[in-house]
Order: sequence, then C-alpha cells, then structure tokens
Amino acid sequence: MSQTAPIIAPSILSADFGIMRETVQALEQAGADWVHFDVMDGHFVPNLTFGAPMVSALRPYCSLPFDVHLMIERPEQLIPAFAEAGANLITVHAEACVHLHRVIQQIKERGCGAGVALNPHTPLVMVEALLADIDLLLIMTVNPGFGGQEFIEGMLPKVAQASTLLKASRSSALLSVDGGVSPENARRLVEAGAQVLVAGSSVFGAPSVAQGIDALRRSALTPTYTA
Ligand code: DX5
Ligand code: ZN
Repeated sequence: MSQTAPIIAPSILSADFGIMRETVQALEQAGADWVHFDVMDGHFVPNLTFGAPMVSALRPYCSLPFDVHLMIERPEQLIPAFAEAGANLITVHAEACVHLHRVIQQIKERGCGAGVALNPHTPLVMVEALLADIDLLLIMTVNPGFGGQEFIEGMLPKVAQASTLLKASRSSALLSVDGGVSPENARRLVEAGAQVLVAGSSVFGAPSVAQGIDALRRSALTPTYTA
C-alpha cells in the first residue's frame, strides 16, 4: 500500500531551551514541515513550559508553519496573544473547553487554523459534531504533559477510527498524532491514517535533527509486510 509522505512536526519541547533560535533555523534547514510548540500551564497538565512570547521571539527566524498545541485551561483567554505572536495553527484540548465550538470560531476569526486535541481516554464522539469546522484533529498517543513518554499502543485503533470518521464526514481536517512517535511506529500510524507526525525525543534524541526527521520520514514511507 503506498502512502503520501506525512507532515513532520518536531516538538521543540525536547530541544535545548538555551538555543531555540538556532533550533528552529536548524529544523527548517533539515526539512521539517512544521514546528510544534507545546504550551503547558501547570494546571491542565502538571508541567509548565512557555507562552506566546516564545512564539513571537522565534517567528522572525523561521518561515515554517508554527503549530501551537495549547495544553492549558481557559485557552480562549490566550488565543489572541498566540495569534498575534505568529501561530499558524492553534490546537486546544476538548477537555479544556466548555464551549469548544465557540473557541474554534475564535481561533479562525484570528486567521489561524483551528485544531482540537483529545487525551487518550477522551472518545472521538466529543469532537464528532465539529469535524466540518476544524482544520486539525490531534490524537494524543501519550498523556499530555511531558516529552519522552512511551507510545500507548492502544491508541492505534483510535487513530484508524478518527481517520474513518474524518473521511465519512468529508472533513478536510488533518489527522495528527502526538506522543512517543518514533521510526518504530511511524509506519503503523501512517497506515492507520495519521497525516501529521509530531515528534520530540525521536527528532532531538537523534545524532542530528536532520537524521531524526529523515528516519521518521523513511520509516513512514516504508511498507510493512505481513506474511
Ligand atoms: C506531550 C506533548 C508532545 C511531546 C512529544 O505532552 O504534547 O508534543 O512533547 O514528545 P515525544 O515525541 O518525546 O513524546
Ligand atoms: Zn504536543
């Protein structure tokens, strides 16, 4: 079965925070498709990372789309700041939004693509009514909060179901996966229908980001054979 190349979105959460400018420049040079920003507030998830100033500080040094993943409570309060900072896509968690439809509209009104993320335990039905409204559906394949966690194998059927659901609803939303993505599972994820691979430790843990990105891309495009 042939597949189209997935979008590779390295997560800078796994990069050296002291050299972020060089990092986004290196990612662009290495052929990354997007840059993934993991924003954590210490409430929705136990970890705390960075806010919109990180996005605006890096915007002048990289022309790749900035894919901002908000793991925060009340994301509606910060969407204007992230849009202003130069985010291209803003993804909110369904679990963090009482009025998810309104938040999606707010993101789009600001000129950004709108994404919805689902934690591993959150069923697809939570976003089913909104598939026509979104630009990205992000399936978490770890519990959000930290890089370097182990991929939850049980999420593969959920990715496949999400892909079927998106096709059936004629949604143009991209299907993204985030957490524990590596050359070991990239092909299976793409076969299940993933179109965007977010990867932190497998890209930044490689000898170079170029090698990390190439390994993901090669694995995603190499068919697996079953006897
Ligand atoms: C998890 C984040 C992910 C994470 C990916 O909360 O949303 O983007 O940093 O990192 P790895 O690829 O190391 O799991
Ligand atoms: Zn993420």
